Amino acid sequence: MPAANPVAVITGASSGIGAEYADRLAERNYDLVLVARRADRLRKLAATLAAKHGIEVRVIEADLTAEAGLTQVEQLLRSDERISLLVNNAGNGKLSSTTDISDADTASTIALNVVAPTRLARAILPAFLKRDAGAIINIASVMAFHALPITTLYSATKSFVLMLSRGLQGELAGTGVRVQAVLPAATATDFYDDSGVPLSALDPASVMTTKNMVDAALAGFDAGEAVTLPSVHDAALWTAYDVARHALFGATQVGTPAPRYARAM
Ligand SMILES: NC(=O)c1ccc[n+]([C@@H]2O[C@H](COP(=O)([O-])OP(=O)(O)OC[C@H]3O[C@@H](n4cnc5c(N)ncnc54)[C@H](OP(=O)(O)O)[C@@H]3O)[C@@H](O)[C@H]2O)c1
Repeated sequence: MPAANPVAVITGASSGIGAEYADRLAERNYDLVLVARRADRLRKLAATLAAKHGIEVRVIEADLTAEAGLTQVEQLLRSDERISLLVNNAGNGKLSSTTDISDADTASTIALNVVAPTRLARAILPAFLKRDAGAIINIASVMAFHALPITTLYSATKSFVLMLSRGLQGELAGTGVRVQAVLPAATATDFYDDSGVPLSALDPASVMTTKNMVDAALAGFDAGEAVTLPSVHDAALWTAYDVARHALFGATQVGTPAPRYARAM
């Protein structure tokens, strides 16, 4: 009997970056579980990839902002021992000021971008640790380290995804389980039209194709990168940022106020 393919679970696989990951991982002979709300799109993609690559593709129609949808995917992650990769990709964001975003959209973005990747990572990690193998790819954003006046909430949620990833990397050090944070810049997907800022409003020169984004992110994954910035040509910039972050944290551990905060006598 040939060994069964490993299984990759991809959230938000019905379009954009998630659908591109599905295609690339199918090429790499993963069996797939595709998760999103638009089941018609998932089924169409599943049929195409199964026929093209001879892999097994399952579809889960789930709203990851709803308890029932999240629980359904958690149960799969806890029960299918062939799962070796989780791509936490589903995400949304209304690009507007904090007071202009509705309560419902605010809750939806926090539920999808923060709660869902945390819960799904927690669901798969015990099995990965038991086998001392497995990987989680968390799709964050370059907005994880930058906030514009219209990206406050989105940036805050993506900052969470980056710190979730950094923290997990520390927890998992010395194990065979790894976490990669991917920080895409503008990528040509439906994200923008859904966000309220049409893709056509962006400088086309600043926008990457999903193909280039995912190929670069997987090259970073193959190279064992902890944080992958597909559009950043000068990798030394991230290194300098991370070195400064460590130095800044170290400088906080002194227990006395900095002289600039000393009260004038
Ligand atoms: N495009 C960019 O410029 C860019 C840049 C940096 C980071 N990102 C991140 O990349 C990830 C993928 O986004 P994308 O650009 O590929 O946009 P997209 O084409 O709009 O894809 C979003 C995916 O998330 C799914 N999704 C949305 N709400 C959901 C829900 N409640 N439950 C389950 N699935 C849900 C969507 O499927 P259904 O609608 O069928 O549920 C879709 O498959 C996101 O995390 C986004 O923040 C994008």
